[in-house]
Amino acid sequence: MKIAIGSDHAGFKLKEEIKKFLEEKGIEVVDFGTNSEERVDYPDYAISLAESVAKGEETFGILICGTGIGMSIAANKVKGIRASLVSDVYSAHSAREHNNANILCMGGRVLGTELAKEITNAWLNAEFLGGRHERRINKIAEYEDK
Ligand code: RB5
Repeated sequence: MKIAIGSDHAGFKLKEEIKKFLEEKGIEVVDFGTNSEERVDYPDYAISLAESVAKGEETFGILICGTGIGMSIAANKVKGIRASLVSDVYSAHSAREHNNANILCMGGRVLGTELAKEITNAWLNAEFLGGRHERRINKIAEYEDK
C-alpha cells in the first residue's frame, strides 16, 4: 500500500504526525507538502495529490487542512476522486465500506492527534463492500462522464 499525504499550513502539524504513524506501520508514504506552517493555499495541494491518486500512482490519499472542508471540496473536483471528510471512527470505516472513498480528509484544527490516528487506522483497515454500494457510486461516475 502506498499513501499520498498532503496538507496546508493549518494541517501541517497533524500531517507530520500521521505521516510518522503510517511510516512506523511500514506503509510507504508520498508527501505532497506543505513543509511548514507558512501560509499556503489548500487547493494547490488538494488538486495535485488528487490527480496523482486518480492516476493510480498511490493507493489512497490523505489531505489535512484546518477543517478538512476546503481539501474535500477541491479534491472532489478531480474526476474519479471520492474524498471523504471524516471526524469520527464510524464515518471513517463507512467511507471505505459504503463509498469506496479514495481520499481521507481531516481537520487539523478539529481533531486531536490520537483520534486522527484512530480514524486513519479505521479508514485504512476497512474494505469496500460493493453490491448496492457499487451501484450508487457508479451513478456518481456516470454523472462525471456526462
Ligand atoms: C486556513 O486558514 C483554512 O481556511 C484552511 O486550512 C481550511 O480550513 C479550509 O477549508
